[in-house]
Amino acid sequence: MAQDEPADGVDVAEQPPAIRVYGAKVHNLKDIDVTVPLRRLVAVAGVSGSGKTSLAMGVLYAEGSRRYLEALSTYTRRRMAQAPRAAVDTVEHVPAALALRQRPGVPGVRSTFGTSTELLNVLRLLFSRLGSHLCPNGHRQDSTIDVAAGLTLTCPVCDVTFYPPGAESLAFNSDGACPRCGGTGVVREIDEAALVPDPARTIAEGAVAPWGTFGLTVMPQVVAEFGVRTDVPYTELTAQERQIVMHGPAEKRQISVRSRNGKLFELNFTYRNARRAVQETLDKATTERGLNRVNRFISTQVCPVCRGTRLSEQARSSLVDGVGLAEATAKTLDELIAWAPTIEDTLPREMRRMARNIVSTLLETARRLVDLGLGYLSLDRASSTLSTGERQRVQLARAVRNQTTGVLYVLDEPSIGLHPSNVDGLLGVMRDLLRDGNSVVIVDHDVQVLREADWLIEIGPGSGADGGRCSPPVTSPTSARTRTPSSAGSSPGVSPSSYAPAPVATRCSTGDVSTCPPAPCTRCGPWMSTSPRPPDRRDRGVRIG
Ligand SMILES: Nc1ncnc2c1ncn2[C@@H]1O[C@H](COP(=O)(O)OP(=O)(O)OP(=O)(O)O)[C@@H](O)[C@H]1O
Ligand SMILES: [Mg+2]
Ligand SMILES: [Zn+2]
Ligand SMILES: [Zn+2]
Repeated sequence: MAQDEPADGVDVAEQPPAIRVYGAKVHNLKDIDVTVPLRRLVAVAGVSGSGKTSLAMGVLYAEGSRRYLEALSTYTRRRMAQAPRAAVDTVEHVPAALALRQRPGVPGVRSTFGTSTELLNVLRLLFSRLGSHLCPNGHRQDSTIDVAAGLTLTCPVCDVTFYPPGAESLAFNSDGACPRCGGTGVVREIDEAALVPDPARTIAEGAVAPWGTFGLTVMPQVVAEFGVRTDVPYTELTAQERQIVMHGPAEKRQISVRSRNGKLFELNFTYRNARRAVQETLDKATTERGLNRVNRFISTQVCPVCRGTRLSEQARSSLVDGVGLAEATAKTLDELIAWAPTIEDTLPREMRRMARNIVSTLLETARRLVDLGLGYLSLDRASSTLSTGERQRVQLARAVRNQTTGVLYVLDEPSIGLHPSNVDGLLGVMRDLLRDGNSVVIVDHDVQVLREADWLIEIGPGSGADGGRCSPPVTSPTSARTRTPSSAGSSPGVSPSSYAPAPVATRCSTGDVSTCPPAPCTRCGPWMSTSPRPPDRRDRGVRIG
């Protein structure tokens, strides 16, 4: 039993062995009972439309995340959308759940493949400690062990003493940010063409779009006070007139305004040129809708100062092997791990050990991602541009590295779009999650994935109304006794008669399922003929296989 003890030394015997679902009716599920062993790799298989996602996401994840939210403080909860209760009688022993299918909330503008994988942290350390830096007067220094040791440097040319940049100074979400774009790599500029979308109109007819959009209805009259003609098509205005429309000063002008009852008033208004009208609204916009109204006048462009690298000139100037941080992050992961081991040879002998250490940390993290088939991504890719599958795998790799424990991971078809050679990487990640004391439920069609499962739940037999049952039978005598009254008797649940024409499930008579001979499943094809790993021994469920 020693191998069943998690690292923290808590006896597993005190933890429930399985999640028990009673009377699940989400979508097409036929009021079924399901046992899901904890701390195991549980696969959910079945034909398309049979109800796999309904069980995995609709029941297990839905309940796991709902309970997790309920456990949070009222304050935090109020700020999150309330998860509705799933259509199920009871779910027992469900741990906090994370689902890796859904698109995790829109990643921030400063999130990149490099930051989200934490590879960039390692790279920054590498550049900070092993790089050749510039003195404040721009003289290049050789990489030295003094830098690596965090000592000050004295420039041999200008004799200035300075601190070489720390990892923070190389971070675009910190001190190393490009001052122009604030580390986002893009600049939002007012698009003059959009300000006057139809130049054939006169100003009086609404040629200057933002004035109309933002309720500055008196501006045509105000701009006329500056000598701009408002009754000729915009195209016919002189350069000077257009200059006033776009850039004119925020000065007061008196105009006459007719009130609702027809009276004329002389009023002062401050002129807001077309650009300013947009800028002011942009600065004030707090809601999504507000922003959308401004967005039509704004175009997003690659930052001309950092050329999209997000880094300040200073942060870009440190070199390792003649390569800057911006260039290094533009490399794909595959290119990066080919380059990293060669760095050592470019450094003085006394720095090589440190190089080796940092590089091995880098490679360790990178390897996992490459195994998951992400080697073609560059570190500087904005997270918002990753596909769902890519982001799911980044999340997976991070989950493993963070060493969560006691969490239920629900994965809906993570192998989709994955090259067969990367399925091994995926399985490796899942094994690591289990090793750390987590539970994994995975919906998949991939034979290689299913073969690895400790426990298999097949949903079927058909699609839609013809599906939603669960086989092999997983209601053990124990769970049948503990069924809640509401569902007891009302449903055959997953008893053999309801959906299990073939003798797929052999209950282990010895009580030690690991010694049972493998029993090939007659319906599920060859992938079941291999011996599955035994479910938790204290779980007296039925063995699959
Ligand atoms: N939100 C929903 N509302 C109503 N019915 C739904 C909803 N989502 C799914 N269904 C139906 O429930 C049944 C099971 O769907 P589910 O998504 O669980 O299937 P699946 O086994 O995951 O299929 P696939 O392998 O194609 O992903 C299907 O008939 C589907 O049309
Ligand atoms: Mg599905
Ligand atoms: Zn100098
Ligand atoms: Zn920039």
